Amino acid sequence: MALSNDLLLRVANRQSVERPPVWLMRQAGRILPEYRALREKVQGFKNLVENPELVCEVTLQPVRALGVDAAILFSDILVVPEAMGLPYQMVESKGPWFENTIDSPSDLSNLQIVDPEASLGFVLDGVKLIKGELNDSIPLIGFAGAPWTIFVYMVEGRGSKTFSKAKAFLYRHPEASHKLLSMITEATIAYLKAQIKAGVNLIQLFDSWAGILSPEQYALFSMPYISRICNAIDEVPKTVFPKGAFFARQALSEINCNVIGLDWNMDIAETKQIVNGRKALQGNLDPCVLYAEASVVKSETLKMLRAFGKDHIANLGHGVYPDTPLDNVKCFVDTVKEFAYTGE
Ligand code: CP3
Repeated sequence: MALSNDLLLRVANRQSVERPPVWLMRQAGRILPEYRALREKVQGFKNLVENPELVCEVTLQPVRALGVDAAILFSDILVVPEAMGLPYQMVESKGPWFENTIDSPSDLSNLQIVDPEASLGFVLDGVKLIKGELNDSIPLIGFAGAPWTIFVYMVEGRGSKTFSKAKAFLYRHPEASHKLLSMITEATIAYLKAQIKAGVNLIQLFDSWAGILSPEQYALFSMPYISRICNAIDEVPKTVFPKGAFFARQALSEINCNVIGLDWNMDIAETKQIVNGRKALQGNLDPCVLYAEASVVKSETLKMLRAFGKDHIANLGHGVYPDTPLDNVKCFVDTVKEFAYTGE
């Protein structure tokens, strides 16, 4: 089925486009007054995430409000560890919290193999509703956490300053670490394949805690599992976002993904040299640019677009912060949409 706006998929597949597509990580969320209103009515983040009608509604809010070139499924990476047997809570203004964590190798026996149709049906039903509402207008992005990032939550049980619990587990129990990462990888492949079957057009792996590993540890404990997921999925294009792992750009250029997501610490010209045309690139405006005046938002966005050139998906270098002025988010989106490669 052809989409009326397939800019994102064309760039991911390295076809030519007249301008870069634009969307924002965390576009569905607190930046939108209609999201905040819904969150006041529906108590608790999980009551949104687990309700397919509300998932559909929240996914479409930024599409209507901002006119972005892609929708991203409203859900959370933490539904996977939960389906594997570690339920999470989203504590207001604090973030995720897991009651049970993986503290020793023997705890792996408490985890289950995931059947996404059985345990994550609320996500898949949400995807089907969203696809119906989008009616082939723009692509829908599905996602999952990269295995290392999910491992961090399973061991730490929450965010951390040092991540010393998760990193200590790698050094103390390398074999059990690989076993756990393999289990997460298998669950993630099944989950992403179910999202694709339900209708998503591209998938993104969020390796949000990639940057806390040394290059050597990243090569051992993250990259092989990301690569395994990318090799298992050939139905749709794949984006990998290795937040903070500037050292991983070379290796990512060599695996079976289509797009590499960059954060704002990664220099655009240097990245283009390393990647050398092998992948499309996504990113990477500093989200804090959107706190500046509109004229600065515009000039910084144009500077970024010119630095990337073609084969680029415009986005921020990480999720948009909840208190960002909505007019500046619109200015960012509109600046990209008014840009044209011809004549540049
Ligand atoms: O991008 C989108 O618009 C789609 C929705 C989406 C959410 N979480 C919704 C959400 C996506 C893609 C995610 C992924 C996610 N979740 C990541 C990877 C991306 C990243 O930011 O690095 C991570 C690390 C999580 C875990 C998570 N979920 C944390 C740490 C938090 C609390 C802190 C925060 O950023 O608010 C969440 C909650 C969460 N997930 C919210 C949203 C909209 C905020 C909930 C609310 O306040 O209503």
